[in-house]
Amino acid sequence: MERSAPGFKCACPHRTSNEVEADIQGKEKIEETLKFLKEYTIEHFSNEEQLMEEIDFPELAEHRKTHANFVKAVLELEETIKTKGVSVLSTIKLNRTLTDWLLNHINKCDKLIGECMATRERAV
Ligand SMILES: [Fe+2]
Repeated sequence: MERSAPGFKCACPHRTSNEVEADIQGKEKIEETLKFLKEYTIEHFSNEEQLMEEIDFPELAEHRKTHANFVKAVLELEETIKTKGVSVLSTIKLNRTLTDWLLNHINKCDKLIGECMATRERAV
């Protein structure tokens, strides 16, 4: 079963309908992921930064910069995909951005907020 997107033209006459379908689905998944990330970051970062202010988190400024850099990376990736389309490079970049975010930011930087909160609660 072949699905066609409006205005979609296959540049390569040797591509099968399954390959074209996989490209369309891949593009939709990446667009969905980027849309989710934009919504998630707007709400989550705002809440997290408010919490850091409330507990007087000593690394607030640096943490805010990290959030801003992540948002910038997501927006740049979205723009690249809008203007140039989905490519292997953009897919790899999205995967790396998300993996790095999970491993380094959530697993390390965000944990420091929890530790700071625990320290503040023990001091009360
Ligand atoms: Fe964070």
